[in-house]
Amino acid sequence: MTRQDHPASRLSPFDRLLASADHGLRTVFAKPLAARPSPARQCEPVYLSAEHAKLSAALMRVNHVGEVCAQALYQSQALFSRDPGLRLHFKAAAQEELDHLAWTQQRLDELGSHKSHLSPLWYSGAFAIGSLAGLIGDRVSLGFVVETERQVEQHLASHLERLPQADLPSRAVVAQMKLEEARHAEDAENAGAQALAAPIKLAMRLAARVMTSTAHHI
Ligand SMILES: [Fe+2]
Ligand SMILES: [Fe+2]
Repeated sequence: MTRQDHPASRLSPFDRLLASADHGLRTVFAKPLAARPSPARQCEPVYLSAEHAKLSAALMRVNHVGEVCAQALYQSQALFSRDPGLRLHFKAAAQEELDHLAWTQQRLDELGSHKSHLSPLWYSGAFAIGSLAGLIGDRVSLGFVVETERQVEQHLASHLERLPQADLPSRAVVAQMKLEEARHAEDAENAGAQALAAPIKLAMRLAARVMTSTAHHI
């Protein structure tokens, strides 16, 4: 079956809108199911001091919010893409991001903490931005993916420096996500991404800073 023959590429725009709304509600309110086991499962259970557990939870909450936004971005870009093949590309990436969402949520549960209370807000904001990129055009939309994934990868690298050394399960999750975000950027680049202008990249960094510093606490 070619990508264009895939049943998902034959849905009407209204069907796609409904499917996207359903996906958004499940991302924000339901417990995601991972297709692959979490990398944390390869680690022995660890003991963390209260201070370290609190720091790990804050960082994993930020990473979880990043994955909520990844779902919103890929879903909105798939919704507005004019190319059925590209729509499936975005959907496939969203599927891998769903594992990230589930892994970070599982780790937050294990750390006895919670996901961001503002998840619906982050999802809505990211969905609006992804929709705008999608409406501008596929190459810009792909350029947006490249820049987002690169910024997330740098962010995850900084978390590997900040996470407690003893928290091997969280570190395993973040390390695997970092590898996969780099590949998502590369895939989008190979699919024909257009480089974004410097002021847009800067605006994205500033928006990400507001989100990460808020999600650290709530
Ligand atoms: Fe991710
Ligand atoms: Fe990604």
